[in-house]
Amino acid sequence: MKKVVVVVGVVFIGLISQAQSVDLKRVFSDAEKQTDLMISEVPLAKKGNSALVSPRTLDAKGELELCPSFRWVSGFFPGTLWYLYDYTRNEKWKKQAEEFTANIEKEKLNAASHDVGFKVYCSFGNGYRLTKNKNYKEIIIQAAKTLSTRFNPTVGCIRSWDTMPKWKFPVIIDNMLNLELLFAATRISGDSSFYKIAVSHANTTLKNHFRKDYSCYHVVDYDSTKKDAVITKGTRQGFSDESAWARGQAWAIYGFTMCYRETKDPKYLKQAENVAGYILNNPNLPSDLVPYWDYDAPNIPHEQRDASAAACFASGLYELSTYSKNGKEYRKAADKIMENLTNSYRSPIGQNKGFILLHSTGARPAKSEVDVPLCYADYYYIEALLRSKKVENKVKIAF
Ligand code: GLY
Repeated sequence: MKKVVVVVGVVFIGLISQAQSVDLKRVFSDAEKQTDLMISEVPLAKKGNSALVSPRTLDAKGELELCPSFRWVSGFFPGTLWYLYDYTRNEKWKKQAEEFTANIEKEKLNAASHDVGFKVYCSFGNGYRLTKNKNYKEIIIQAAKTLSTRFNPTVGCIRSWDTMPKWKFPVIIDNMLNLELLFAATRISGDSSFYKIAVSHANTTLKNHFRKDYSCYHVVDYDSTKKDAVITKGTRQGFSDESAWARGQAWAIYGFTMCYRETKDPKYLKQAENVAGYILNNPNLPSDLVPYWDYDAPNIPHEQRDASAAACFASGLYELSTYSKNGKEYRKAADKIMENLTNSYRSPIGQNKGFILLHSTGARPAKSEVDVPLCYADYYYIEALLRSKKVENKVKIAF
């Protein structure tokens, strides 16, 4: 009899802790305090350089490092401000979001890399979703036109980088996230050309970026003069050409889940499920589900984690949970990631210049941004918190 009571008690406690895993009210209140601090630090970190517009990371001395608008990360802090407004509906956050968003408007015309999607969609995209500001709508459409100039119909993809002689026509898995801008632009303009480019890019990526085990390469290089002409497959930010770079796998899940949302093409859903299976069954995934920077890093468990990959993975998993037959499993995993990020990876309040999460890794092979806070870790963490609430309330994830 005693045994039964104990077992029932354990199950009950298990259910309670599942439901209470992250106290959103408290975590958002903490995030607001950190963001207040960050906003107060920005003018000091500019050191008179008005081209520096958005928080990026902390430097080796723990000082706040800002970036100019042309950097791929410039839209994440404005996006985080929009998410704070989304949750709190406090006009203060709307005003801050508008100010930081306005700083990167010129990126709508910057065709120098694929990153226009990250920059403009996280900032103006979220702003438009929440305000329906007509000016934002025009900026999103213009940015999609700019991104479309990088599409090559022979390859079937948008080119990622121009400045790396090692590759002729490099396409990186990260580029999947830029497609969200194109889908949005078609939805708000009625111009289907953006949608067609996004679908072509997703199909070509699905065909060439994945291994048999559903892990993905970071960089696929194409000969843009011929159809179906892959030159090399490899990595830039992962451990080796045949390894699975953690953030790249997260981009893949998030990207193909978003493509399924926008197209309802079941092959995208299947691909997102396959990559989720690869990650969740990976023997090198730590028990707290916050990955090392590469699933094949050589010195696991003595390797740095990447909280940004965990946050992006959790956010993608929440959305995937709403479409997939494995939804319960994905939601449980996402909840566990969020619980662990919240309890063990957050900065103490009032420290780290206002960053929310610690322990991310940007580009380990270049020894750049290793075990630091990163603006995109915070962005996807806050996004995932909002998504967890939407999943709980059975509300549509986006648009
Ligand atoms: N898009 C670049 C990165 O994930 O580091």
